[in-house]
Amino acid sequence: CGIVGYIGNNDSKEILLKGLEKLEYRGYDSAGIAVKNENGVHVFKEKGRIADLRSIVDENVVANIGIGHTRWATHGVPSQLNAHPHQSTSGRFTLVHNGVIENYDILKREYLADATFVSETDTEVIVQLIELFVKEGLEVIEAFRKTLTLLKGSYALALLDAENNETIFVAKNKSPLLVGLGNDFNVVASDAMAMLQVTDQYVELVDKEIVIVTKDHVTIQNLNGDIISRKPYTAELDASDIEKGTYPHYMLKEIDEQPLVMRKIIQTYQNEQGELTIAPEIINAMNDSDRVYIIAAGTSYHAGLVGKQFIEKIAKIPVEVHVASEFGYNMPLLSDKPLFIFISQSGETADSRAVLVSVKELGHRTLTITNVPGSTLSREADYTLLLHAGPEIAVASTKAYTAQLAVLSILAEVTAKSRNYTLGFDLVHELGIVANAMEVLCDSKELIEHISREFLSVTRNAFFIGRSVDHYVGLEGALKLKEISYIQAEGFAGGELKHGTIALIEEGTPIIALATQESVNLSIRGNVKEVVARGANPCIISMKGLEMDEDSFVIPEVHELLTPLISVIPMQLIAYYAALHRDCDVDKPRNLAKSVTVE
Ligand code: G6P
Repeated sequence: CGIVGYIGNNDSKEILLKGLEKLEYRGYDSAGIAVKNENGVHVFKEKGRIADLRSIVDENVVANIGIGHTRWATHGVPSQLNAHPHQSTSGRFTLVHNGVIENYDILKREYLADATFVSETDTEVIVQLIELFVKEGLEVIEAFRKTLTLLKGSYALALLDAENNETIFVAKNKSPLLVGLGNDFNVVASDAMAMLQVTDQYVELVDKEIVIVTKDHVTIQNLNGDIISRKPYTAELDASDIEKGTYPHYMLKEIDEQPLVMRKIIQTYQNEQGELTIAPEIINAMNDSDRVYIIAAGTSYHAGLVGKQFIEKIAKIPVEVHVASEFGYNMPLLSDKPLFIFISQSGETADSRAVLVSVKELGHRTLTITNVPGSTLSREADYTLLLHAGPEIAVASTKAYTAQLAVLSILAEVTAKSRNYTLGFDLVHELGIVANAMEVLCDSKELIEHISREFLSVTRNAFFIGRSVDHYVGLEGALKLKEISYIQAEGFAGGELKHGTIALIEEGTPIIALATQESVNLSIRGNVKEVVARGANPCIISMKGLEMDEDSFVIPEVHELLTPLISVIPMQLIAYYAALHRDCDVDKPRNLAKSVTVE
């Protein structure tokens, strides 16, 4: 799921391994590096963690050019054999690849019937094609170019040629890739975080570009061979932002950062008069649209469900929320003037990007809400709103979710004000209360740990119920729990449980019920009674003012539209402690990736 490369005067091994460690957060199941010196190319790869890879890298091999890779299995199981780098039959070419080549089987049959393949990956086809075209007489760069024109799908590639001591060949389509610039060296990385320890100067690459990276030069070409010039940008990341500090896990650190992020967002989105403000062109786009379509995946999709409430209730514009990967198959009948909002922590999710590309082709307006400035979705949409949450490293998203909600509420409020709607509340003030309430919750870890132990320590499943917005937070709570603790967890609308799922309730089945909305407080408690009558073990999390004796935990009172911003925190912490008690790898759960750059 990540690529690094280095060419310069120093030994590349440690730089590549460190870079891969910085990419660990993206999720992966195997890793490898290939380094080249006067004795040839040396490949080291291993299933498992970077630490496993480190243990097999030969310390005595010193080489100042190399590429590295973390793999998240798509074609072929996670294994040492399927790990990258992959080599051509003669061993001349060595390649790392992120993405999916959709026509690899056709290419294999058409061009490589005689070649021997050692792995199950689509990547091997690329490296074998390059070798084939070189054998047929093409220059390496021409063979690389010809291969790229044949590929259908997504790729970020870095290629070494055993007969060339001076070059890393690089290309990308759909999958993210950057080139980093240094003095007497250059690097390649899937994101700036990977190589921040050596440079903060990066050049963005555009789809279907080839880059020839040497120690002193970076030459970008399009597929026709035209040279393209592009200025580097400074990656404004503070290396200390991406350290864990004294925390045992990034996830816990990121949960704790939420009050700070709230205050940062309020501050950043305020003008000198203390009013919330958003670029006028974005507010115009909101006002010009007759319907907003929110597109997102995973946790960001859950933020979209809450965001719909904000935009409809505050700005009074109708909103539809869609799972990105499904949108293309059943595109709804669009309104006359749609505005598409893409919510994505990473700004790289391939499913969301595919929708962005197709709606742009239809000529529709697009806005990306993301945590990563300069990310693909940010670059390619008409407008961007940033989350200002700081790098989120843990695979399970926490602070990005609450930041997404805050930014969506601000978008709704500024739009409503531009329409002269009376709001009846001061959002800056209410978000300030949210930040304080978050602090109280972050200080309640002991109690939440206790709840997590009481309800989840032995169970194999758990259900999260809620009505209205509590239902959406329940979906997120269930997702958090299954992502990191592997307990089978599902979120349901309180009223829906009885239409089927109640059949799964057994003696002791934990039910986590949210009760933060006055209008549904009694009905959700009614649903709890229904499951208790069938043996369930209920954990009710309510809001101050609505609490009852049977409740396990009471969150501080905030404006009723904004409750998801804080009711999610006990959900995050419950999941965290459940994973911890089960000895799970909290920050890097199995099978998951942080940035899913394949569709
Ligand atoms: C992956 C992550 C999820 C995340 C989803 C969307 O599946 O594991 O935690 O919610 O992608 O990511 P995005 O970066 O688009 O918000």
